[in-house]
Amino acid sequence: MLIELVVNGAPRAVPVEPHHTLLEVLRDDLGLTGTKECCLVGECGACTVLLDGRSVDACLVLAVEADGLEVRTVEGLARPDGTLSALQAAFLDKGAVQCGFCIPGQLVSAQALLDEHPHPSRAEIEEGLAGNLCRCACYEQIFEAVEATAAGEASDTDSAPLAHAAGPADSGARSVEEGLDQ
Ligand code: FES
Ligand code: FES
Repeated sequence: MLIELVVNGAPRAVPVEPHHTLLEVLRDDLGLTGTKECCLVGECGACTVLLDGRSVDACLVLAVEADGLEVRTVEGLARPDGTLSALQAAFLDKGAVQCGFCIPGQLVSAQALLDEHPHPSRAEIEEGLAGNLCRCACYEQIFEAVEATAAGEASDTDSAPLAHAAGPADSGARSVEEGLDQ
């Protein structure tokens, strides 16, 4: 069947099989490989995206369930001119990125938290990111990055441009946006 989505602000129509997940559609059909594939059972948070503004594990959502909805992936967090958002810049400033694999999911969950609670407490940050695992154990730096963003301390004046967003990833270069291209 054909499903229609708005992905990072762009309308997309995608033919899918009934058993295809939203994660498969994003990565395999739309080329948005910033959203990571890992456990596939809703345990790690690497595949986190926003579905109509709510954070979900894309590996647990059937594509047909997302029909007619808005999806925001990590590629959609950058500013319209392609520079890093304050949150993304804060992850770099705080050294929150090691291997990078978990970072897209962490960023999306953090964005969802900040959208709902612009000034979260440390406990709210820890709870908001509890579904996102980091095998490099960067938790403290990640929490500090969210705190810095909420406090308006994050610098975004020297952000590097990013390859953009609604289309397929066109570079093998690793970025905070995409993590490893796996
Ligand atoms: S890949 Fe979806 S939660 Fe781990
Ligand atoms: S930075 Fe490596 S898994 Fe989180």
